[in-house]
Amino acid sequence: MYAQMVKTDGTRVKSLDDMEPEERAFQQRIEAGQKIEPKEWMPEAYRKTLVRQISQHAHSEIVGQLPEGNWITRAPTLERKAILLAKVQDEAGHGLYLYCAAETLGISRDEMYEQLHSGKAKYSSIFNYPTLSWADIGAIGWLVDGAAIMNQVPLQRCSYGPYARAMVRICKEESFHQRQGFDILAKMVKGTPAQKAMVQDALDRWWWPSLMMFGPSDDASVHSAQSMAWKIKQNSNDELRQKFVDQTVPQADYLGLTVPDPELKWNETKGGYDFGEPDWKEFFEVIAGNGLCNAERLGARRKAWDDGAWFREGLLAHAAKAEARRTTAPAAAE
Ligand SMILES: [Fe+2]
Ligand SMILES: [Fe+2]
Repeated sequence: MYAQMVKTDGTRVKSLDDMEPEERAFQQRIEAGQKIEPKEWMPEAYRKTLVRQISQHAHSEIVGQLPEGNWITRAPTLERKAILLAKVQDEAGHGLYLYCAAETLGISRDEMYEQLHSGKAKYSSIFNYPTLSWADIGAIGWLVDGAAIMNQVPLQRCSYGPYARAMVRICKEESFHQRQGFDILAKMVKGTPAQKAMVQDALDRWWWPSLMMFGPSDDASVHSAQSMAWKIKQNSNDELRQKFVDQTVPQADYLGLTVPDPELKWNETKGGYDFGEPDWKEFFEVIAGNGLCNAERLGARRKAWDDGAWFREGLLAHAAKAEARRTTAPAAAE
């Protein structure tokens, strides 16, 4: 089936007949649903695609801690504070699993950090928007973690073993994140009119950036056809976006909120909602580094890296001393 797929540059994804035996065997294993493991042969382009995708995903988890970390000290109750702290810690854990998964493909942690700090590597554009109120923390859990789940559930079946396995645990934690976000909002909409207005304002600001998280339409997405042939990607961006809208609109109704899209309408024939087009100009601007918080987010990550230098140096010095003791220890002492 993948042989019919056409890439955006007009070239077709290679068919089995065009492949050398090694690559053909690799592709056949993927089509049989087998997992590819780190030490096994893989095409260089497959390795590079995964390094890019997994490291980008890891960076998103790490940078994604910042908008919410901003509210840990200001959460309204001790319970909310503890929950938010646990959630932000989960995101750090997700980043670490994913850096480990990327390392199995031959890139080092230092290289990945360097790519993030120099601005060469991308991370999800959503984290370049500011968190202005407590309702934003609810909206992030509900919408941003909700969209992340939609994207990540199919990745549990991705052809690369370490990535697929990391996703299993990550997805379990993401569903806790989504529920805690929804719970914050469900509480707030039952509060004062000002609290309810705060929730509507958060939805107004986070709705469109959340839809953008699925990426542009697949016709405009550079890597889709090949990634699908490799079973790194299983669904089109538009399919996942549709699923997200269909799942989320009834939840917004339940909360008594208005989704900020005048074109949103139930379509009986397709059994889903019709909805408007996100502002892709804004999306590409944010990706290019011109979002509201790009500079602040990268600045925070660079500062964390610089501030941790003494600790990394200390660890290395300690390891060198331990190694020296081990190699110069007299044999008699054994
Ligand atoms: Fe996460
Ligand atoms: Fe999350």
